[in-house]
Amino acid sequence: MSIVFHEPMKTLTLHTVHTTYQMQIDLHGRLQHLYYGRRVEGACMAGLYPAIDHGLSPDYYPHRQTRGYSPDVRPQEYTGCNTGDFRLSSVVVRAQDGACGADFIYESHSISDGKYAVEGMPSAFDRDGEAQTLSVVLRDPVTKLRLELLYGVYEKQDIITRAARLTNDSDSSLILDKVMTLNLDMPCGPWELIHFHGRHEMECQTDRVALTNGIRTVSSRRGASSHHHNPFVILCAPTATEETGDCFGIMPVYSGSHRTDIEVDYNGMTRVSSGIHDEMFSWLLEPGDTFHTPEALLTFTHEGLGCLSRRYHRFIRSSIIRSRFAYAERPVLINNWEATYFDFTPDKIVAIAKEAASMGIDMLVLDDGWFGSRDDDNRGLGDWFVNETKLEGGLSRLIERINALGLRFGLWFEPEMVNEDSDLYRAHPDWALTLPGRQPAMGRNQLVLDLTRDDVIDYLTERLCSILSEHHIEYVKWDMNRNISDAYSRLLSAERQGEIFHRYILGVYKLLDRVTSAFPDVLFEGCASGGGRFDAGMLAYFPQIWTSDDTDAVERLTIQHGTSFGYPISSMGAHVSACPNHQTSRTVPIWTRAIVAMSGTFGYELDPSRLSEADKADVREQVACFKRHRNLIHNGDYYRLCDPQKSDFSAWQFVSESMDEALLCYVQPRTRANAQPVLMRLRGLDQDARYRLGALYTAGTKDRFWNRYELNEECCVFTGAQLMYAGLALPRVYGDCPGLMVHLVRE
Ligand code: GLA
Repeated sequence: MSIVFHEPMKTLTLHTVHTTYQMQIDLHGRLQHLYYGRRVEGACMAGLYPAIDHGLSPDYYPHRQTRGYSPDVRPQEYTGCNTGDFRLSSVVVRAQDGACGADFIYESHSISDGKYAVEGMPSAFDRDGEAQTLSVVLRDPVTKLRLELLYGVYEKQDIITRAARLTNDSDSSLILDKVMTLNLDMPCGPWELIHFHGRHEMECQTDRVALTNGIRTVSSRRGASSHHHNPFVILCAPTATEETGDCFGIMPVYSGSHRTDIEVDYNGMTRVSSGIHDEMFSWLLEPGDTFHTPEALLTFTHEGLGCLSRRYHRFIRSSIIRSRFAYAERPVLINNWEATYFDFTPDKIVAIAKEAASMGIDMLVLDDGWFGSRDDDNRGLGDWFVNETKLEGGLSRLIERINALGLRFGLWFEPEMVNEDSDLYRAHPDWALTLPGRQPAMGRNQLVLDLTRDDVIDYLTERLCSILSEHHIEYVKWDMNRNISDAYSRLLSAERQGEIFHRYILGVYKLLDRVTSAFPDVLFEGCASGGGRFDAGMLAYFPQIWTSDDTDAVERLTIQHGTSFGYPISSMGAHVSACPNHQTSRTVPIWTRAIVAMSGTFGYELDPSRLSEADKADVREQVACFKRHRNLIHNGDYYRLCDPQKSDFSAWQFVSESMDEALLCYVQPRTRANAQPVLMRLRGLDQDARYRLGALYTAGTKDRFWNRYELNEECCVFTGAQLMYAGLALPRVYGDCPGLMVHLVRE
């Protein structure tokens, strides 16, 4: 049993293989959080929090004889508001008389097999029948707001999920001004926060900061999880490294405006509060209505950041990604965007496909510009009808020509947007989110469609499903290229306008649900100007997401490194593009570009007819190399070997589950003269096994010492212990941005 109720102590304990999470229904009926951390058997942790009177921290009213038992210092499982806990609130609720307050008292709980679902939103599912659910029902006696706290326990995977439901059991309406997914009070400390910030073309930059008194916020108010602040955060001990130390992960399964606040209070306790962003949020809860929060995925490990990441990688693939492509071999594709932008003809696309076919590429993706009057990014969005003139004979004819070359075909969409210069906008100007009486802020000259409306969702469902059923399309790139401003919906009443941001994302999920479940054999890739919506919510529909519009291999090192903390390698869209690179003008050897893109879904985004014959031969070899190692890269365990933000090079490694093979990847953006060879300690190997140095792929001159390995049989074999504890001396590599990849196989 992974969930245990201990009647005498009134504790509810959740166990996973390596962790324990404990709460207690206290004497006054409040649900106290007691512990989350390393597995502890048969203990009650209530003694961790003795009652101590703290000045200006008020006591619960009926228990004023027990001074010191204050809501302001007790660790809470979830909080109400305005009733004595001055730290971050989980819920802010207003009754009809304007009174704002809530204090939740335990009513009941239930334990069941399987995993709860979250209505209208993606949530983890139970692929292997390992999950159990705990539901705890509490109630605020005055507002009659019923709170149901939900816990999904994945024992083997060491993941605990959380979500909440709030139901109005009174006979008058309530207004929710804030509803968070979770509250997590953590003792001890100090903790450090690792978060992933950035901007367009520079997503997921890793930052690690010490948490001191006060509140630190990671958030987005853009209507999307955003390039600017990924919703995933880690709290870790200051001493935590990739291999050791306490780390907590908090990963919202949500793609809209979010916030995670971390408060260190006057007692040095740390409170994490995570959920939907409450700015411009309010929700009218009519009698009988239920509000569902998004879910969050929690994990704890004392074995460092690498272990935490590998848990999330496995969990997302097993229990978040619904698509049948979660574990399927991904095709190597070529995308025409950076090759042609909007300027293409069918012949040009077929010419790209022909070259691609000759190099072993599996699929051609036709990007933006095939529909309506879309010849630049000022017009056409919303008109999801094939531009027959531009495609000279239609999309089916083009697909037939591509298929005849042995390539599969994929297509780009950006369903959530509309240009003013489009037939859709001319017919339905009220379908765009705009504020009455104001000129809307424009993003890429486009507006956001009002996906709180069912008629808009129906139109988009019909358009996408028609195109997908009328043509032989095996892959869809689903883009989203601006954030929400001017949020105002013409169909919602005045008191419901605060619901737009959340209703919008519910609409996106509804549309995605309909389209992806109607076409289970289509591989969907998410995109939002790159990684503007790279989150666990989107991964429920998209097994892969375009990680960044920055295709420069050097920039990608930090972007992919940051993304890897939470998200699996098989989910990261990555392509080799032309040099000089279109975003940075940097030139990087083609093998280095490939080594970086291979640590992702792998593909190309360039015009192959412009490649030299030598480059074409390299591409052919790269495609074959990726296909050889694809299983190890996508299904193996991933290890970060260094921090590219802090060293001259970047290195990472894959190890198969059986530890029979490993792939070491190394890229050196900065080359120095007279440098000592890098001694790289590998990870995750079987220390007693003997590994033979297999293939070496390199984009730099080979060192003569390295050649020794090739010449001398004995030098090519190492024990796992030797590779992990002593290290492997890498060859010196030269030139601009060299890179190498080493394959090791158990003998
Ligand atoms: C976004 C995407 C790109 C490309 C363009 C097309 O920027 O991130 O990959 O699809 O849109 O307009």
